[in-house]
Amino acid sequence: MTSVFDLAPEAPVVPVVVIEDAADAVPLARALVAGGLPLIEVTLRTPAALDALRAIADGVPEAVVGAGTVVSAAGVADAVGAGARFLVSPGWTGRLLGAMRESGVPFLPGVSTVSEVVALLEQGVDAMKFFPAEAAGGVPYLKSLAGPLPQARFCPTGGVSAASAPAYLALPNVGCVGGTWMLPPDALAARDWARVESLARGTAALRAPVSGR
Ligand code: 3PG
Repeated sequence: MTSVFDLAPEAPVVPVVVIEDAADAVPLARALVAGGLPLIEVTLRTPAALDALRAIADGVPEAVVGAGTVVSAAGVADAVGAGARFLVSPGWTGRLLGAMRESGVPFLPGVSTVSEVVALLEQGVDAMKFFPAEAAGGVPYLKSLAGPLPQARFCPTGGVSAASAPAYLALPNVGCVGGTWMLPPDALAARDWARVESLARGTAALRAPVSGR
C-alpha cells in the first residue's frame, strides 16, 4: 500500500494546520502549495476542521490534504468523507488502527515508545508518526531506533522547528517531518497569506541540502 511518505516525496515537510474559520482554508492551502509545501495536514481539533478539509480537497487540487488528530473510527470516516487523502494520529489503539486500515488511504499512527513501534511492526505497519518528537527524545532517540528497528520509518512531529527539521530529515528512518513552525499565529490571525507563502518557501528549501534522496 502507498505510504504517506510516497505522496509528495519532493516536499517532505508537512504543515500541521489548525483552522478556526473554514473560509481561511483555501487561501491558506494555496499559499502553502505556492511556497512548495503541497502535503497539508488539517487537524480535527476545531469545529471548522471538516469543512476546511473539504474546501481544500475541492478547491485546491494541487494540494495533497489529509487529516490529523484522528483519534477515533468516527474521525476516520468523517475525514475520508470530507476528502482526506491521508490520516495522522498522535497515538493508536487496535480499533483506530483497524479503521485506518479499512479507510483505503495511507495513514500514520502515532508512537512514542519502542514497544509501540514493535507492536505496529507486528501488525505489518512500518510508517508511523513519532509524537511528541522533541519531548520524547528527538533526533537522538530516532537515531537509536534505526539500529534495532531499521524497517520502521517515522514522521517526527511535535516541537520540531526550522532549526531541527534538517537533522530529522537527514536520518535514514525519517520519511517526513511535520509541524506548525511555518504557520505563526500572528500571520494566520492577520490572514497574511503572502507571509505564509514566503515561510513555506523557506521551509521547502530547508530540506534541500540534506535530502539528497
Ligand atoms: C500537533 O499535533 O500539534 C503537531 O505535532 C504540531 O506540533 P508543533 O506545533 O509543536 O509543531
